[in-house]
Amino acid sequence: MSEDRSSSITRRLPPGTATERWTGARHGMATTYRRADLVVLGVGVMIGAGIFSLAGRQAATMAGPGVILSFMIAGITSMLVAFCIAELSSAMPASGSAYTFTYVIFGEVWAWIVGWALVMELLVATAVVARAWSLYAAQMLADLRVPIPAPLAGVVGQTEGFDLFTLLILVLLVAVVALGARIGLRALWIIVVAKLLTIGAVIVIGALHFDQGNLTAIPAPPAPVPAASETLQSSVLGLLFGQTDAFGWFGIFAASATIAFAYIGFDVVATAAEEAEDAPRAVPRGIIRSLMVTTVIYIAVAVVMVGMTSYDEIDLNAPLASAFRRAGVDFMVHVINIGAVLGLTTVVLVLLVGLTRVVFAMARDGLFPRSLAKVNRTYHSPTRATLVIGLAAVLLAEFVPVLTLEPLVVIGALYTFIASAAGVIRMRRTMPGLPRGFRTPFSPYVPAASILACLWLMVNLQVVTWLYFAVWMAFGLLVYLLYGRRNSLLATGGGRPAVDPAYGNRGRHRR
Ligand code: ALA
Repeated sequence: MSEDRSSSITRRLPPGTATERWTGARHGMATTYRRADLVVLGVGVMIGAGIFSLAGRQAATMAGPGVILSFMIAGITSMLVAFCIAELSSAMPASGSAYTFTYVIFGEVWAWIVGWALVMELLVATAVVARAWSLYAAQMLADLRVPIPAPLAGVVGQTEGFDLFTLLILVLLVAVVALGARIGLRALWIIVVAKLLTIGAVIVIGALHFDQGNLTAIPAPPAPVPAASETLQSSVLGLLFGQTDAFGWFGIFAASATIAFAYIGFDVVATAAEEAEDAPRAVPRGIIRSLMVTTVIYIAVAVVMVGMTSYDEIDLNAPLASAFRRAGVDFMVHVINIGAVLGLTTVVLVLLVGLTRVVFAMARDGLFPRSLAKVNRTYHSPTRATLVIGLAAVLLAEFVPVLTLEPLVVIGALYTFIASAAGVIRMRRTMPGLPRGFRTPFSPYVPAASILACLWLMVNLQVVTWLYFAVWMAFGLLVYLLYGRRNSLLATGGGRPAVDPAYGNRGRHRR
């Protein structure tokens, strides 16, 4: 690694270092993912709480049947961004994804900011979905009339406070990730197939009970929402326009911002790049294909859900299931419960994998303690980073009321998306010769449209979300000033050979 003692504003990671995996092997994680695995990874991480609970809640409280449009708006935004991330990951197939791209293109301090946002996005998402998993698991047992032993009654399926199921799912999946991606991958395939079968049943049986009359209210008539009149709960856009009602077009846009949570995950595919075969070609395709599959599924589920029942009759506690219950198809309640429990399992699993890789990449560059970049020789996986992240996820999920924090995940993701889209525009100018396995179509228009679409979703998020995000980012900047700026490998000159036995080897390990 070349030494660069210039200011942290200007020092950039050389593209050759970022992609050393392909020329000299910076570490020894196993090559695990083939092309199809990457699509499964994307579908595994995307389809989860967003469709099983968020969609119905947003239809009932914000968008009415217009939630279909909300899914389309968020889906189009995601697709524009996916093209940009696909190009960057094909040029720099590195575990850090948006963090590494920014390091190469814009420099260290920007990279840290993006990495910090990425860590928040993935960590909070992990905690949120683990909690949602517990709610669904408890609901599944209740619907199957499986009695919960009296001492456990107040500690499973809880929205706040200590929750045993949340703890168990996190401990189990952290263990799976720590033991290497291979074990997780086999389970992932099986569970993703089961999840898709469940969703297929939702779409087909839902279509049989579809009533076009339920879709006439697009947009639904605006209705006042007491909480939204408080400044903090209002969206930034709503505040600017003095708009405090739900539903109507404002509701559809506000819901599209929240619903972007459902698409979170296509960016996680890029973090698997160092463990993928033929990454410059396979990763971009994995990102785009998994997002296409997911978008079609989401829109289909949204259509049948609001087509089966009037939006004002959706039960907030079990949105999708309540649509089937109202239609008299009770057995689907069990199918949905099982699908949600399986679906949310893979979301947490892949989020943990992605988060581990981002932290691993940041530690490898010296911005987090270097020990987190160690690859375990037995499992060929960053086991130590996984355990630290697992602990952080448990603490967050158990001690913070995370179920209200989905928008924080969205704002973090949108921020990193903007960085990636801007990165494409700049990389085309500054590094036109860098080999790429994929090129964003119609650049710079598609990246520019991505930036505008992300900004549009961001201003549709609540004021309180912006405040939380600002606090997290300010804290991150402080951490960087106190730690990363001094310990960055670019600042210290590296001090390790290109192939360091402690930080990896050239060995490749196939399934
Ligand atoms: N997209 C993921 C979900 O909806 C995070 O659960």
